[in-house]
Amino acid sequence: MADYETILVERRDAVTLVRLNRPQALNALNSQVLGELIRAFAAYDADPAQRCLVLTGSEKAFAAGADIKEMEAKVFADMYGENYFKGWEQVTATRKPWIAAVAGYALGGGCEVAMMADFILAADTARFGQPEIKLGVMPGMGGSQRLAAAVGKAKAMEMCLTGRMIGAEEAERAGLVARVVPAAALVDEALKTAAAIAAMPPLAAIANKEAVNAAFELPLAPGINFERRLFHGLFGTEDQKEGMAAFVEKRAGNFTGR
Ligand code: CAA
Repeated sequence: MADYETILVERRDAVTLVRLNRPQALNALNSQVLGELIRAFAAYDADPAQRCLVLTGSEKAFAAGADIKEMEAKVFADMYGENYFKGWEQVTATRKPWIAAVAGYALGGGCEVAMMADFILAADTARFGQPEIKLGVMPGMGGSQRLAAAVGKAKAMEMCLTGRMIGAEEAERAGLVARVVPAAALVDEALKTAAAIAAMPPLAAIANKEAVNAAFELPLAPGINFERRLFHGLFGTEDQKEGMAAFVEKRAGNFTGR
């Protein structure tokens, strides 16, 4: 779509593929990238024909962080005054599923954006890190919170305090990524996974996503109650009738999102 300069957006049937596209800066995330991602994700969320999204970068870098050159000269009054990074909440407000497909560097804000996804598929070349401390700062797009939730205190603290990068295998062992695939197969594998999600009943996809995300916000009993109510609510959908009838009749379901 022509009106983006820092990202490439394609529609492949029901899957939207978004590629970060600032190769000269290893996909560093500046305000323009954020603004364009907000628009692309909002367009995806609003389009009933689109049912899953893949966000990826290049072979060398998913994204090497927030744009250091954009931040370098700013002072506290700038950062606090404009609430720098505030727009990322619009990306994480996406209701429909999306996957981060990570090859190469996912550092600082790059790692943080990957962690905003519903899950990460990693190429065997992926390297994750929160090196902000070396710049005299720290994660500012949710990294300290999401990394700790994903890999636990010990590894999150070590990564934030030393800036050490971890490779794909270590990231998978630690629970940061869902699956590691050969680099050459990353985008195809992500699109295949996204197509499988896109074929699911879309309201059930949103409900599943809301329920898993609630696990990171709610104590166990209210979380289970939230899950139960969503589960009951899905019995008000036509797709539940279709899904269960299709099982009983030994055929594939044909889901409409009603
Ligand atoms: N911001 C701005 N520009 C960046 C960038 C960033 N985060 N990362 C890389 N670039 C630019 C480089 O400045 C360079 O540009 P020039 O050719 O104009 O000099 C170009 O991308 C290529 O980078 P390198 O020459 O450094 O490539 P390399 O292969 O030698 O090294 C790298 C790769 C190890 C990823 C290295 O680029 C690097 O360390 N990048 C910075 C990583 C980092 O510190 N990220 C955290 C940023 S702060 C942040 O993200 C805050 C937050 O919480 C959100």
